[in-house]
Amino acid sequence: MTADILREKFLAFFQARNHKIIESDSLVPKDDPTVLFTPAGMNQFKKEFMGQDYGFKRAATAQRCLRTDDLEKVGKTSSHHTFFEMLGNFSFGDYFKEEAISWAWEFLTSELNLSQDKLMVSVYKEDTEAYKIWKEKIGLPVGKIVKLGDKDNFWPAEAKTKGPNGPCGPCSEIFYDFGPDVGCKEKACDPSCSCGRFVEIWNLVFTQFNRKDDGSLEPLPNKNIDTGMGLERLAAIMQGKQNNFQTELFGPIIKEIIRGQSPSGTVPENKLLYAIADHIRAVVFSIYDGILPSNEGRGYVVRKIIRKSILHLNCLGIKDPFLYRLVAVVAQIMHKPYPELTKRQEEIAQRILIEEKNFIHTLSSSEELFENKFAGFIQKPNPETVGNIVFLLHDTYGIPLELTRQWLDKQKISFSLKAFQQAMEEQKARSKSGSAMKGDVFGAKGLEIKVKESKFVGYKENSTEAIILAILKDESEINLVRRIVLDRTPFYAESGGQVGDAGKLISGKNVFEVLDTRKIDNYIVHIGKIRLGVFKEGDSVTAQINIERRLNIARNHTATHILQAALREVLGNHVQQQGSLVSEEKFRFDFTHFKGLSKQEISKVEEVANSYINKNQVVSCKEMTFKEAKKAGALAFFEEKYGENVRVVAIGDISKELCGGTHIDNISKIGLIKIISEGSVASGIRRIEGVTAGFAEQFIKDQEQKVIQEAAKLCGFWQIS
Ligand code: ALA
Repeated sequence: MTADILREKFLAFFQARNHKIIESDSLVPKDDPTVLFTPAGMNQFKKEFMGQDYGFKRAATAQRCLRTDDLEKVGKTSSHHTFFEMLGNFSFGDYFKEEAISWAWEFLTSELNLSQDKLMVSVYKEDTEAYKIWKEKIGLPVGKIVKLGDKDNFWPAEAKTKGPNGPCGPCSEIFYDFGPDVGCKEKACDPSCSCGRFVEIWNLVFTQFNRKDDGSLEPLPNKNIDTGMGLERLAAIMQGKQNNFQTELFGPIIKEIIRGQSPSGTVPENKLLYAIADHIRAVVFSIYDGILPSNEGRGYVVRKIIRKSILHLNCLGIKDPFLYRLVAVVAQIMHKPYPELTKRQEEIAQRILIEEKNFIHTLSSSEELFENKFAGFIQKPNPETVGNIVFLLHDTYGIPLELTRQWLDKQKISFSLKAFQQAMEEQKARSKSGSAMKGDVFGAKGLEIKVKESKFVGYKENSTEAIILAILKDESEINLVRRIVLDRTPFYAESGGQVGDAGKLISGKNVFEVLDTRKIDNYIVHIGKIRLGVFKEGDSVTAQINIERRLNIARNHTATHILQAALREVLGNHVQQQGSLVSEEKFRFDFTHFKGLSKQEISKVEEVANSYINKNQVVSCKEMTFKEAKKAGALAFFEEKYGENVRVVAIGDISKELCGGTHIDNISKIGLIKIISEGSVASGIRRIEGVTAGFAEQFIKDQEQKVIQEAAKLCGFWQIS
């Protein structure tokens, strides 16, 4: 049974049990600073777990996930991955342990026909309820149920003692038994043994607590279910394989590498092939979700995975750029769930190729780099410092320890392996604290459930009557900054690159000046200062945005849409938005393109953009489902996460984009677009900055003035007034 069929069967099984099928979230978790990448199916549902009602109580997903904790194990074991798909069913205050266990069992044994003899389960040692269900309702013999502790059967693992804060609970896992001939072969081997005989396929988490700062476990308003089953593992089992890499999810990638390695294709498979086959999926889907290789954060992880793969390819004798060629194979394997990937494979491959070329160049010029960095140590040995530099070369340039060590040996420069390892450990600890799940799952401290929601009315209204729901005073603020939440507001909170609105809240003679507006979870927070009088919760206020400022922002926001259309017309359809900033004075637009724009191209883009403006087209905003929007050809910005219902901003026949921002109603109101700069942001990403209307006129006037002054200087005048 193929992975495509398994994915479908799983979702259909839970759809038939009234679960809403939700699309996989991006690998970039939205509004969740606690994780670097999406590590599990539950992450997109944290708010539902905390009791917020979005109109459905049951959901099922096939979530794309990325975990880097096991990076070193990948390829060496049969079932560890960086990128994988997690099949999950979820209940938000609806069904609980009995249904979750019964359905999981039914799916595996009836739907997939797995033999009961091959399955074993574990439960949390104190969870007598789950134990009883397995024993009495399912009828499992007691010898097939093991009781395990905090590390194995609480999720997140050891959350009870170590955190993170937020939703957690005991869990029960279902294991597949590959039989006594596999693994340690000990008689007493059971699911707690990591020898490989028992492979965990499904984790059923009974999310019933909210862990607090003081380590206490507070019962959640509702009891929830969060499950996760690794699709790759399930596919292997269903295909009678002991190794995930032998399934059709990886096979064609491995074949392609072997073809690249030796035309006759006789080279045996090995761990490096497996690791590369895993890594290319992680890289492809990261870039798909807008994470580009870079020197920090997520981008750094992607860069590291690419470099690791290049080094592996090197060991296999493939010295020229090759990784990029695997993108098409991944796109083909994943076409069913990700048809979009096929359309974007060329662009993704180009990104990887750039990265490959750069790193291969670094490796080939490493000799020169070594000489620069280590020359001084031939005369004056300092093994500790050398060890630290070896680490830096490894960390910043990706140069493997072995390569540096060989060179040092040749030059007879000694280095301290201990210093290298220590620097490595420190780096690991740093990145762990930056990416581990930690802190509060629920961000709006102090607001929590007190405020249900603040309604945004600013697409239609510039001013509205409202009630103050909460006033937050940050004690550390000596300059009287307050954060105010209203029941309804015309103030747009910073998002999608558009800055937050400014304006005033007025109540009689009392005036609060709003300097910025931000969103924290579902709340729109007005940040500013009391200019006159006093404000308290429950007060009625008139909330008034600064209309002039909003109009300028709207002009610039609509201008980014026009610019994207013009760029696509002039440079081609590979142009895709990678980020933007829209403020009152100017806009910034980042997009995919592989080289700098020539003067002629910039001028052509400007010309096309302004010709659009002269078309006097209406800007319309319409809500529709994500599917309808995609069908209508609306462009989406891939780093964003979109809900089921999206807003599509259309400008006549010029542009159609998914966008939540505020726009002008007719593009003629932009007046003029002027590009003021063009440059590079990262490899393959360009940035254009521009101005509109009065700001554009002012920019042109300033330019003219400069030219006149330059000319005057040349003619011998020092100043022109
Ligand atoms: N959230 C659970 C896991 O990741 C299902 O294992």
